[in-house]
Amino acid sequence: MPSEIIIREYRPEDLEQVLELVRELEAELAEKFPEVQLISSVNDYKTRYLVPGYKYKTFVAEIEGKIVGYLMGYPSTGALEVDNMYDIFPSSSWKPKEFFLKITFVSKPYRNQGISRRLHEKVIEYAREQGYEEIYACIAKWNIPEIKVVSSLKFEMKDLGSRYRLTLKLR
Ligand SMILES: CC(C)(COP(=O)(O)OP(=O)(O)OC[C@H]1O[C@@H](n2cnc3c(N)ncnc32)[C@H](O)[C@@H]1OP(=O)(O)O)[C@@H](O)C(=O)NCCC(=O)NCCS
Repeated sequence: MPSEIIIREYRPEDLEQVLELVRELEAELAEKFPEVQLISSVNDYKTRYLVPGYKYKTFVAEIEGKIVGYLMGYPSTGALEVDNMYDIFPSSSWKPKEFFLKITFVSKPYRNQGISRRLHEKVIEYAREQGYEEIYACIAKWNIPEIKVVSSLKFEMKDLGSRYRLTLKLR
């Protein structure tokens, strides 16, 4: 019988397992872009992305207690330069309209089993519940698997040259 895949919110006790996936992602990126020197983001995950209460929201895929993938997003101000440079804290009086999908990673042996798709379905459900008006991702054109997943979930694709902006209106 195939093992059950659990998709759930990230919990602080998942930290080490997610960091291991980040290292795997970075090794993959280093292979894909051999001419660039990659500075590891492990520390950013520890001090920003995975810190409870920060703007980032992470979901994980778990199989028999092992975290095999994650998806991270955050509420977007609509100004890319602000989003990229600053962390904001959720506020009860300010509600952004857009939720941005920052990154999805699934460990190689677990790919092509629909795990990324399940993670995206979960984050769409979350964004809808939270009252966002839209959810979007920007995906490089070379990333065929990720484009396939997101476009199959009825996101609208806009061609931005080297990448697509994929948007799903939630209301
Ligand atoms: C992109 C990624 C998250 C997809 O995860 P996944 O769990 O394997 O995705 P799914 O199984 O839900 O779906 C993958 C789809 O791509 C298809 N696919 C996979 N490799 C492909 C290829 N080389 N060419 C065309 N389609 C391909 C699969 O058939 C599947 O489509 P289907 O459901 O119509 O059959 C995973 O490959 C990954 O972590 N890649 C490295 C990191 C990355 O690029 N992240 C995204 C950018 S932020």
